[in-house]
Amino acid sequence: MKLAVLASGKGTNLQAVIDAIKDGTLEEASISWVVSDNPSAGAIERANRSGINVILVKKHKMTEVLRPVFEEVDLVILAGFLKIIPDELLNIKPIINIHPSLLPLFGGKGMFGVKVQEEVINSGMKVTGPTVHLVTGDIDGGPIVMQKCMEVRDDDTPSTLQERIHELEHEILIESIKRISKRKYKIMGRKVVFS
Ligand code: GRF
Repeated sequence: MKLAVLASGKGTNLQAVIDAIKDGTLEEASISWVVSDNPSAGAIERANRSGINVILVKKHKMTEVLRPVFEEVDLVILAGFLKIIPDELLNIKPIINIHPSLLPLFGGKGMFGVKVQEEVINSGMKVTGPTVHLVTGDIDGGPIVMQKCMEVRDDDTPSTLQERIHELEHEILIESIKRISKRKYKIMGRKVVFS
C-alpha cells in the first residue's frame, strides 16, 4: 500500500508511520511522498532522514501539486496538515486525518494545536483522546475510523495533555492504516465499520 503523508509540524505522527513500516508493524506499506506547506516543518527533516521524497506545496498550488500525488498512492494521511484539502481532491483516494480530541467534540475550524487541549481542560471533561476519521468537505466531521480514550488528570496542563494524547495518536494512526489497508470497510452514517 502506497502512502502519502501530509504534515505541517513536528511530524511525530509521520515518524510513527515510518517506524511502523521499518519494524514490520505495517506490512507492505511504503511512504511515496511527504508533503508539507511549511518549509521549516520537523516532518521534512524526518522524511529527509529516512530518504523519503518531499514536496513543498503553496496554498494557491494545492490542487495542481496534490492531484498527481493523490492519484499515485492508495491512501492519503493528514498528520497535522494545516491546510484544507480542496474539494476536487476529496474523492480521488481515501484520506484520513488524525485529530487530538474525541470528535465531534473540540473540532472544526481553528481547533488545532494546544488550543484543543485548552478547550478540553476548560470544559471540565474527565476523559479525552484522539480520533482518526475519513476526510470529507466537513472540517473534522468525516466518518470516524478509530478513537481511544484517556483520563484528563486534575493537574493536567494543555501541554501535558497534548504530550499524552500524542502517544495514543501514534497507536490509533497505525492501527487505522492497517484496518483501512485491508479495504474491508463500509461507511455507515458518521462511522466507518470494518468487517
Ligand atoms: C497532532 O496533534 C494531530 O492530532 C494534529 O496535529 C498534530 C500533529 O502532530 N492534527 P505531529 O506533527 O505529528 O507531532
